[in-house]
Amino acid sequence: MKIAVLPGDGIGTEIVAEAVKVLKALDLSFEMETALVGGAAYEAHGHPLPEATLKLAQQSDAVLFGAVGDWKYDKLDRPLRPEQAILGLRKHMGLFANFRPAICYSQLVHASSLKPELVAGLDILIIRELTGDIYFGQPRGRRIAVDGHFPGSEEAFDTMRYSRPEIERIAHVAFQAARKRDKRVTSVDKANVLETFQFWKDVVTEVGKEYPDVALDHMYVDNAAMQLVKAPKKFDVVVTGNMFGDILSDAAAMLTGSIGMLPSASLNTKNQGLYEPSHGSAPDIAGQGVANPLATILSAAMMLRFSLNQPEAAKRIETAVDQVLSQGLRTPDIFSEGTTRVGTAQMGDAVVKALG
Ligand code: IPM
Ligand code: MG
Repeated sequence: MKIAVLPGDGIGTEIVAEAVKVLKALDLSFEMETALVGGAAYEAHGHPLPEATLKLAQQSDAVLFGAVGDWKYDKLDRPLRPEQAILGLRKHMGLFANFRPAICYSQLVHASSLKPELVAGLDILIIRELTGDIYFGQPRGRRIAVDGHFPGSEEAFDTMRYSRPEIERIAHVAFQAARKRDKRVTSVDKANVLETFQFWKDVVTEVGKEYPDVALDHMYVDNAAMQLVKAPKKFDVVVTGNMFGDILSDAAAMLTGSIGMLPSASLNTKNQGLYEPSHGSAPDIAGQGVANPLATILSAAMMLRFSLNQPEAAKRIETAVDQVLSQGLRTPDIFSEGTTRVGTAQMGDAVVKALG
């Protein structure tokens, strides 16, 4: 089993170090190889996703990814910006299925910005299509408008598009995931306005006929955003396109108390996966040893389950995380009165200890 370890920028290096610590404590034999990605790779090699890093990722069973980005790179040409590393990995590895679970730990009910009764017991799974939509659609660019409201003026444009096979395969992923849960799928679209998402809705409906045991409903994305903060527990599996999934998954993350708790998995058809916390590189707190490593540690657990076929080891990590929360240990993002404030490394050490 080979794991490519790509810590990236900002807090990425700190949180990945803790996840690696936990993986090493499991007594499983992995080969782990680290490489630069994002701004760190740009500094060293002039590109956010160097050929060698991509090759390492492609040749591994799984990628453990930290985070990329820093405001100081915002002025670079788009192809050189750190974000291109993660977009490039998704594209070149074909990581079309993004799992973003939002689980509210009972110990953290009071850390949520919503009322405890709205989030207690929350367990939703957002499945975001990750290699299509307006993120990757061509053409895109800037030009002088020939029509529209201001012909002759400068304009920018992107292309939203989805093909039938792209929608079908992510729909299958969602229905199959729902079968292992509460057997409900909400497909989120904007079919009332967008051709792309009327097609999305039609194709998901067709695929749904193959899963008569799973209840399917459809929701417009604006309403879904509202329902997520109004009655989030009504959702089981949410399946949606790349851009809507980006936005809704951040909203869902906050329901759980902190985006610092949320792991994610991005899989291709070969079950090769990239595992990363749902949060970003947080340059404002980088280097201070205060970042929450639990999302990355939980991402490592997802990696063991989905790509490395080690469900028991995954469970051990998840149980250990639950235990450290019960012990009252909290990084600043989830701290509340009466709990014990710890730093990044202390949190990682506590998880290792709780593995038993
Ligand atoms: C995410 C991030 C990325 C995205 C950025 C960093 C390109 O926001 O994984 O949600 O938009 O997909
Ligand atoms: Mg995002």
